[in-house]
Amino acid sequence: MTQSLPARGNNLDPWYDSYAARTAGLAASEVRALFAVASRPEVVSLAGGMPYVSALPQELVTGAMQKVMADEGPTALQYGSGQGVPRLREQILEVMALEGISGSADDVVVTTGSQHALELFSKLFLDPGDVVIAEGPSYVTAMVIFRSYQAEVDHVPMDEHGLLPGALREHIARLKAAGRRIKFLYTIPTFHNPAGVTLSWERRLEILEICAAEGILVLEDNPYGLLYFGDRPPAAMRSIEDEGVVYLGTFSKTLAPGFRLGWALAPHAIREKLILANEAAVLSPSSFTQLVVSEYLSKADWRGQIDIFRGVYRERKEAMLAALAEHLPELSWTNPNGGFYVWLTLPPALDSKAMLPRAVKELVAYTPGTAFYADGGGRHNIRLSFCYPTPDQIRIGIRRLANVVNGELDLLETFAGTGEFAPTRTDGVSYPPSDMR
Ligand SMILES: Cc1ncc(COP(=O)(O)O)c(C=O)c1O
Repeated sequence: MTQSLPARGNNLDPWYDSYAARTAGLAASEVRALFAVASRPEVVSLAGGMPYVSALPQELVTGAMQKVMADEGPTALQYGSGQGVPRLREQILEVMALEGISGSADDVVVTTGSQHALELFSKLFLDPGDVVIAEGPSYVTAMVIFRSYQAEVDHVPMDEHGLLPGALREHIARLKAAGRRIKFLYTIPTFHNPAGVTLSWERRLEILEICAAEGILVLEDNPYGLLYFGDRPPAAMRSIEDEGVVYLGTFSKTLAPGFRLGWALAPHAIREKLILANEAAVLSPSSFTQLVVSEYLSKADWRGQIDIFRGVYRERKEAMLAALAEHLPELSWTNPNGGFYVWLTLPPALDSKAMLPRAVKELVAYTPGTAFYADGGGRHNIRLSFCYPTPDQIRIGIRRLANVVNGELDLLETFAGTGEFAPTRTDGVSYPPSDMR
């Protein structure tokens, strides 16, 4: 059969010429490519954003599964509604109430993780050439989706209090003057991925005002809001404004991502379209996992479990910041009050992406800042995740990272002006990890 394949495409893929134009943006993300390398056991990975699911007692899940199968097995194994199980949607309201949100279960659409909600929302709103405004940096896999719908991401800068309203105003004015169609603002206001910062209350109000005045819909993505380490963060943007905000939530970080359960809370008309898009994509989200999570929420102390997760992540963040202060005191980094991530700024002479192979050689992995920009920014930044490795592993990882950074800086200094050394060149460099030396 293979002889009859059409003579086109390329050596690697005979169907190369057949893909839809929108797949041009579907390149493997840097995060994804990294997982392969960083999953080797000897590498301390500060790269991925995997929740520490071992902090969830397995018997809670097993108990819920058994109960569901005993009481409503046939329903759990059957197709369900495209909007999601009504009982679970009611419980999702209780979860969102913790973030100051009130709404109706009618306006909740259950999805296969919030990633899927991002996909459905993008499918509803994005045409080729549209613009999505997002923080700079922004969540890498949301940008992969936006690009797959041939939209462009316009990054608005942040500081330690989140997105800058003045800069947002300027960007909107510039885009509109250039005749661009802005479809929505995609924002992660609380414990931002990757920057770790939180949008202040005053700015939440101001940004909502700007968007309302400019007729720009807000897509609020909030996977981390309940994972705070000290004071509660400001209430969700959706608690302030309902018609102009579509809110995305998930059980991935407060329970476990393996359930693949997230949701959107949307104004009526958008909700209707989201349900249709959900049905078109998956018929219905998994009845089984929805019923198991619903059972868990009705029987287990889920608020107490979130508190346990908070304690785990708080300890890990503290370990990371203490190790950074000890080993890389001359650098700067964000101090997140919750979530999973620290955003590190390197000296301008260093390039985080080019330095990565050397870091992996030193048995530490991170995500280069460039992964989180659609426009090539982030070269001097690194996202460090403290969610998965233990505090001891974090300390080892940061020590290794410091060796890489300091090694690069030493070489730079040694060969400064000689033209002999490109700071991040890795060819021919071979040395064992320093804590094995
Ligand atoms: C900002 C953000 N949005 C969405 C997601 C997707 O989460 P899930 O599909 O597991 O709900 C993630 C996962 O890391 C994330 O960090």
